[in-house]
Amino acid sequence: MIDQYALFGSPIKHSQSPKIHQLFAQQTQQAMQYNAQLVAAVDFKSAANIFFAKGGRGLNCTIPLKELAWAYADKLTPRAELSKSVNTLVLQRDGCILGDNTDGAGLVTDLINNHGIQLKHKKILILGAGGASRGIIGVLQDQVPLSVTVANRTVQKALILASEFAHKGRVTGCAYADLQEQSFDLILNATSLSLSDKLPPLTKGLLATQGSCYDLVYADKATAFVRWSQKQQAVNSLDGLGMLVEQAAQAFFIWRGIRPDTAPLMQILESERHRQ
Ligand code: ATR
Repeated sequence: MIDQYALFGSPIKHSQSPKIHQLFAQQTQQAMQYNAQLVAAVDFKSAANIFFAKGGRGLNCTIPLKELAWAYADKLTPRAELSKSVNTLVLQRDGCILGDNTDGAGLVTDLINNHGIQLKHKKILILGAGGASRGIIGVLQDQVPLSVTVANRTVQKALILASEFAHKGRVTGCAYADLQEQSFDLILNATSLSLSDKLPPLTKGLLATQGSCYDLVYADKATAFVRWSQKQQAVNSLDGLGMLVEQAAQAFFIWRGIRPDTAPLMQILESERHRQ
């Protein structure tokens, strides 16, 4: 039987992941199948049990299943452990299921390799303190920035997040109001506001000259945050398309041991987006 992989999540109708993995498989000549399966949180455990019992090799998990996948895994990579969420499950030779989180690494690869945005000694601001922020902080800290600041509407959540990652580097939690008079080299939007075309309260001067902005969300049109970034004349005003492709490439590597070339795929997805 051909090796089976799947994406579990809800909603998944518009997911690009099956297309991405299919193209990776073609490019690297891997015989594998990757399907998207609509799975609600209440059904996750039984659906995952059935998938692996039938010989499934690996799963991607997306909203709202990443925390459940974290709890489901028999073993976790250190980065998944810290992020308390898992987007990639893999069946290992000994029958154990390993959970990893490739979101942060996908983001960092896109920033550095695809866009030449260096993070070393830079001041980074993350907007939001939910699951998306938790998935990226540790991996950003690994790049030795000058500081990481997490701003959130509910300050308490930002403070808790900062304290959890404090052992890895300088990280502070705060409210949006505390950002006045400050400026950052890189601002990342990890709130869910882009999904409703809204913005967190951002002040003028928040982005340093020569700074860049990155919205973790990927959309067909420029998000409110990307438009704000363009208005600030950021050097880069990016959304999460590259992160999506790079996290998939890292998951593919975990499953198949081969690194696909992401550049051709980015070109395809970018050109499809411009045609819309
Ligand atoms: P995800 O897993 O995508 O991170 P989440 O855990 O629900 O989703 O987190 C959503 C983030 O968007 C949170 O930081 C949330 O702020 P709160 O923690 O204060 O709820 C932020 N967010 C959502 N709606 C918001 C709004 N109207 N204004 C400001 N922040 C908002």
